[in-house]
Amino acid sequence: MPSDVSQVPAEQQHLLSHWDSLDEQARTQLSSQIENIDFELMSQLFSGKEKATDWAELASRAEPPAAFRLNSDNNRFSVEQAIAAGEEALEAGQLGAIVVAGGQGSRLGFEHPKGMYEIGPISNRTLFQFHIEQIQAIARRYSVSIPLYLMTSPATHQETVDFLQANNRFGLPEADLHIFCQGTMPAVDAKSGKLLLQEPNKIFESPNGHGGTLAALVDNGCLDDMKSRGITELFYFQVDNPIVEICQPELLGYHLLSQSEMTTQVVGKEDPMEKVGNIVAIDGKMTVIEYSDLPADQADRRDADNNPVFWAGNLAVHVFSTEFLRRASVDASALPFHRAHKKVAFVDETGNTVSPNEPNAIKFEKFIFDLMPAAKNPIAVEADASLVFAPLKNASGAPKDTPESTRAAISAKHRKMLEEAGATVKSDVQVEISPLFALDATELKEKITDSLFVSNDHYFEG
Ligand code: UD1
Repeated sequence: MPSDVSQVPAEQQHLLSHWDSLDEQARTQLSSQIENIDFELMSQLFSGKEKATDWAELASRAEPPAAFRLNSDNNRFSVEQAIAAGEEALEAGQLGAIVVAGGQGSRLGFEHPKGMYEIGPISNRTLFQFHIEQIQAIARRYSVSIPLYLMTSPATHQETVDFLQANNRFGLPEADLHIFCQGTMPAVDAKSGKLLLQEPNKIFESPNGHGGTLAALVDNGCLDDMKSRGITELFYFQVDNPIVEICQPELLGYHLLSQSEMTTQVVGKEDPMEKVGNIVAIDGKMTVIEYSDLPADQADRRDADNNPVFWAGNLAVHVFSTEFLRRASVDASALPFHRAHKKVAFVDETGNTVSPNEPNAIKFEKFIFDLMPAAKNPIAVEADASLVFAPLKNASGAPKDTPESTRAAISAKHRKMLEEAGATVKSDVQVEISPLFALDATELKEKITDSLFVSNDHYFEG
């Protein structure tokens, strides 16, 4: 038995139960996987030596976050000042964008990378095409290149690469698209702490959470690439939101003018228990309390001035200073692991596959927003949800965040743009505008006439 395999600790020897029946190639696969597993860390994570967070206690002390509010006269900088500062950075070529697309989209019930989901209400454009067209339109407007760093996971990587290649990256130059794969973590049996075998020669592993972005950016040379391009700010978003406003100048401007190292766009929550993370301040530090960690009896708590504490919903849109990412990347403790109880099928010691009906395993994931407390001057910036947030999470039939609700939100946003540009849109028709046709109402106005009447479903193609 090679030395790396003999280093498997006593309590994990079941991983070798099928060793004798494996052929040479299968043994090599298993031993090279074992070589990369930090058994010490797995044991610490299982035994909870990593400090467990008392979310209920934290929620009881939380306060509303420092935020630039919508339509407020009390903001430190005006909308105009923010837009000017944001546009200046864009013109100077200081921006890059990162999209996290490593999730397996299990709630959506789609068997492919979520970015391949066809969501255009009329065009059927995929999520990937939405994002890439938008980046190209912004780069064109400011006469710069904006590289897109696209993070996949082992489950989504090859199909994503093949899909974008087959579609000629939807026109994005090859040098401006960096596709890289995030890391993985084994799961453990919730009762015994034993790692699980997915196959006789393969240990079950799953993506290490979007917090894995930080290490993956370093391991794949992306932070160095940003440095060589003169990129100082990175716009972060999730693949599931087709109406995200990538590199929105106003958001960038507040970030830069506030000298914030991590800025988060937020929306006012529709109801206290809405399934979004809550951006709050705890002991003066900006922090996220996930919806799943927020006790119901805290959710509509108000502070001493009668302001709701948990009003700010996390869209998972952040702007990072690349200098901050570089600093955080050398501090391994910057991001803790979170535990999630999940159902994980496994091969038992007799070689049978067990498919549990109840959660049997603990998965460990890092979350990117846990960087917030370490950032200097972090801020939240409120946006109008109908203009920036229509995430695709669930299959048709769910109460919200379905293909139908996302398509309706795209059409409603684009209808508003047309109306602002002077057009009239018949009440029951759907509209969709490629950002390559127009990025906003001002650009749209230059391309259409005031008397435009849209009477049928229409796609304004770029
Ligand atoms: C997430 C946020 C929540 C926020 C909401 C907004 C977390 C824990 N919570 O919730 O605060 O309000 O989005 O839509 O993130 N991903 C990876 N690799 C991974 C795991 C996820 O790339 O290992 C990506 C997914 O592809 C997806 C995104 O991260 O783009 C979010 O994952 P998802 O599981 O959908 O998060 P939510 O629970 O919906």
